Amino acid sequence: MPRLDLCSADEIAPGSAIKVENGDLVLAVFNVDGAYFVTDDLCTHGPGSLSEGYIDGDVVECNFHNGQFDIKTGEVVSPPCMVPIKTYKTTVENGRVMIDTD
Ligand code: FES
Repeated sequence: MPRLDLCSADEIAPGSAIKVENGDLVLAVFNVDGAYFVTDDLCTHGPGSLSEGYIDGDVVECNFHNGQFDIKTGEVVSPPCMVPIKTYKTTVENGRVMIDTD
């Protein structure tokens, strides 16, 4: 299973996210109280970029129509989003945020 090196963990402050592009993937990399999670950046509801969303604990709110996702599981927390956001198995090794892709 290919692993991708996305960014340095210390680029992302707790409670924030950055957008990382790698090949065809456009990802949001979140730091939730020192734990790292990666999802697709594009909201499943429309053009919203989740790395630019409002983060409250482990929930991100899309800044387009205020739909919300669980950052850890990708599940929808509140509408209008209906489809979960894709998440990636994320690890930190030697200060780098890595994901497994399938
Ligand atoms: S584009 Fe994200 S809630 Fe509509």
